[in-house]
Amino acid sequence: MKALKGKAVVVTGGAGFIGSHLCRTLIDQGAKVTAFDNLSSGKIDFIEDLMDDGLKFVQGDIRDTTALEKATRNSEVIFHLAAQTSVPFSMEDAKEDCEVNVVGTLNVLEAAKKAGARLVFSSSCAVYGNPEKRPTPETYPTHPISFYGLSKFIGENYCGFYQENYGLEVVMLRIFNVYGPNGHGVLPDFLNKLRKTPDELEVLGTGRQGRDFVYVSDMVAILLLAATSPVAAGQIFNVGTGTTTSVRELANKIIEFLGLEGVEVSFTGGLAWEGDMDITQADNSKAVNILQWRPQVSLEEGLKKLISSGRY
Ligand SMILES: NC(=O)c1ccc[n+]([C@@H]2O[C@H](COP(=O)([O-])OP(=O)(O)OC[C@H]3O[C@@H](n4cnc5c(N)ncnc54)[C@H](O)[C@@H]3O)[C@@H](O)[C@H]2O)c1
Repeated sequence: MKALKGKAVVVTGGAGFIGSHLCRTLIDQGAKVTAFDNLSSGKIDFIEDLMDDGLKFVQGDIRDTTALEKATRNSEVIFHLAAQTSVPFSMEDAKEDCEVNVVGTLNVLEAAKKAGARLVFSSSCAVYGNPEKRPTPETYPTHPISFYGLSKFIGENYCGFYQENYGLEVVMLRIFNVYGPNGHGVLPDFLNKLRKTPDELEVLGTGRQGRDFVYVSDMVAILLLAATSPVAAGQIFNVGTGTTTSVRELANKIIEFLGLEGVEVSFTGGLAWEGDMDITQADNSKAVNILQWRPQVSLEEGLKKLISSGRY
C-alpha cells in the first residue's frame, strides 16, 4: 500500500517512539514528511538518518499555534502522536498533562481544519480505566482512572466535535501497549534491569497486571490504514491484538529468551503506580473487519526482534 506517495504528511511527535517508526515507513513509501516535535521525550537520533532521505524536521511545540500552523499548511494528512505520555506524570501534574494533551490536541485540530487535512488521533486504552468486560469493545463505556486517560478521552471528544461541526475527517485510535526498538514501558524496563543485574528482577506491582502488547510495525500498519481508508473517517478503533499477557508471564518469557537461569524475581506489590490499570485486552474486531487490519507479529517474534535490535 503506497497510497500516501507524493502526499504532504505531518507527524506530530515524529521524533518519538511510534512517530519515528511511522516517519521511516512514510519516507520509504515516498510521502513528503514533516516531523513536528519539541523533543521533550523524543530523540533526534531516532530520525536523523531520515533527514538525508527527505524528512523535514521542525522543532516545535503543539502549544505554539503559529509554529504548528506553519508546519501543517498544505498538508493532506496529520498524524497526531505528540503527547504527554506518562500516566504517573499526569497524576503529579494534571495541568501540564491537560495543556499538552487537551489544548495541544485542540490546536492540532484547528491546524488540520485550516489545512483541510485528515487527522489521525492517537488515543489510548486508558480511556476505559478498569473495564469489567474483556476483551473490551469500542462501545464499552469509558471510565478513565488517570488524568492521562481523561485527557485522551477529552481529546477524542474534541475530535468528534470537529468532525461533526466542521466536517473534518478524523480517525481515533485507542492504542493498547506498543513495543519495539526505541520504545519505552515495561519491556525495555525489564530488559535494562536484567542487563544491569542478570540475577535479579524487581517487578513493580503484583505482576498480575495484564497488557495487550502490539508490535510497532503492526501499529504503523494501522496508522496508515486510518489515514487512507475511505471508511475510517469518524470512527474509533481499538489497536490491540486481542490477547493479554500478565507482567509476571512477560518477565518469565524475557528471562527465558535471554537464556538466564536462577533469576530472583520480586514484586513490590500493590499498584505499580497511581492511575495504573489492571488488565487490558482489546476487542479488535472492528479494526479487523472495517480496516482489514491483521496484527502480524506475535509477542514471541516481537520480543526476538526487540532483543536482537539492541535498542531498548
Ligand atoms: N506507546 C504506547 O504503548 C501508547 C499507548 C497508548 C497511546 N499511545 C499514544 O501514542 C502517541 C505516541 O506515543 P509514543 O509511545 O511514541 O510516545 P513518545 O513519548 O515516544 O512520543 C511522543 C512524542 O511527542 C513529543 N512531544 C511531547 N510533548 C510535545 C509537545 N508539547 N509538542 C510537540 N511534541 C511533543 C515528544 O518529544 C515525543 O517525541 C502518544 O500520543 C501516546 O499517548 C502510545
